[in-house]
Amino acid sequence: MTRATSRFICQSCGAQTRKWAGKCESCGEWNSVCEEAVDMSGPGAGLPKGKKVKLTGLKGEIEAPPRLATGMAELDRVTGGGLVAGSAILVGGDPGIGKSTILLQALASMAQNGERVIYISGEESGAQIRLRAERLGVSEANVLLGEQTNVYDIISTLSEGPAPAVVVIDSIQTMWTPAIESAPGTVSQVRAACETLIRFAKQRDTCFLFVGHITKERQIAGPKVMEHMVDTVLYFEGERGHQFRILRAVKNRFGATDEIGVFEMSDKGLREVKNPSALFMGERDNLAPGAAVFAGMEGTRPLLVEVQALVAPSILGTPRRAVVGWEASRLSMVLAVLEAHCGLVMAEHDVYLNVAGGMRVREPAADLAVAAALVSSLTGEPLLSNCVIFGEVSLSGAVRAVSHEQTRMKEAAKLGFEHAVFAQDAAQKVTAPDGINIRSVASLADLIASIAFVGAQKPERYSFEDVAPDDRWLKTEADCSQKH
Ligand code: TYD
Ligand code: MG
Repeated sequence: MTRATSRFICQSCGAQTRKWAGKCESCGEWNSVCEEAVDMSGPGAGLPKGKKVKLTGLKGEIEAPPRLATGMAELDRVTGGGLVAGSAILVGGDPGIGKSTILLQALASMAQNGERVIYISGEESGAQIRLRAERLGVSEANVLLGEQTNVYDIISTLSEGPAPAVVVIDSIQTMWTPAIESAPGTVSQVRAACETLIRFAKQRDTCFLFVGHITKERQIAGPKVMEHMVDTVLYFEGERGHQFRILRAVKNRFGATDEIGVFEMSDKGLREVKNPSALFMGERDNLAPGAAVFAGMEGTRPLLVEVQALVAPSILGTPRRAVVGWEASRLSMVLAVLEAHCGLVMAEHDVYLNVAGGMRVREPAADLAVAAALVSSLTGEPLLSNCVIFGEVSLSGAVRAVSHEQTRMKEAAKLGFEHAVFAQDAAQKVTAPDGINIRSVASLADLIASIAFVGAQKPERYSFEDVAPDDRWLKTEADCSQKH
């Protein structure tokens, strides 16, 4: 009765067709369409009678899912308090960022707490993993190693003996099931392998951690299919030249998604960073123009980062706009607002923007700090070194309030900052924590006035002579101390 036919699936966008084609009609990718055999004998035309399920209401007893602490506080924070039994977690990230390292460390620490943990590698040999374990100083931990890529073999192995608490699959792109003909790493294989393993996870209450490769667009390879199937998606990020690594939850069925965990890569593996704000700041002693400290929030945690801007005269017809650690489109917006509402013309300047320490900032609240850094670089006026800035800039040039002012200011106070610049609306409602002096701005023009370009250098373009000296509080330390 079984009638097997095949269908063709684009490995790039997942579109299905009946015929093979060299170019996917849906996304335009070349050579991405692969054949996939389908078993048509499932519930189809004549639907077999199914069992009835019991329907319930929304009210009822809620049980918090049992969680297993990993022994790494930062990893627990990102997962929402530990690994949930029977859940599937996908960890994506650039090659060499430290995915295998963090997972091996976590397994070792759970093994030391007496959990049964298994590491299945489809990429590295046992010897390589042992070598890494030695480097991490965890060779003694009772982590069981397996080298296998066939999902059926893995399932049989895992089914033996007591159910493991946690299994790492490194990586899901190397896994394959014999039921599907396409090569490992293709969308259909990844999906099938993932499906089979997740089913096992739910049956045996085992938590699976999948390592997922990412594409050059920084998405987990296998167009989003994986992300829909698993319970939690974590991205491990960081810049190559930096020691800092940030683990970020982008989806979490068992917790908040905006939490981050901060680690530092050392010669003995990843070390947790307890006070990340101190890390992301440059040297605060020398007052260089173009540096502003943004008081950001990552989930429930405040995080201070230094935003650096360089505005330099351009020799190109179309000046360069380069951004590291922030959205290029938001930079364009801030530049446009500076130009339209504040009269700062940057059309003949190259603009470079960098977030220190390899951090990636996503909050719109960084607008104001970016604007301050840009203006400071353009005018050559350093900002106050002991000042944090945050606020969203609207297209009209107004500065809007953002959430958690109090938490941001407290973090700044903790690190010895003395001034906080943010929206006027918000400033009227909050009380400053001890040691912090609130400086409010209503609009971007206000901010520029306070950075107070003296106007001598290019009076035709920036006419700030009329700014009262009293308003130039963001300019230099000396000005500020005069005022108080
Ligand atoms: P790895 O975990 O293999 O990365 P991924 O699995 O994401 O591809 O990490 C490899 C990098 O980490 C490699 O460049 C070496 C570095 N590393 C250290 O700096 N210290 C260490 O203790 C370890 C184990 C790795
Ligand atoms: Mg690896």
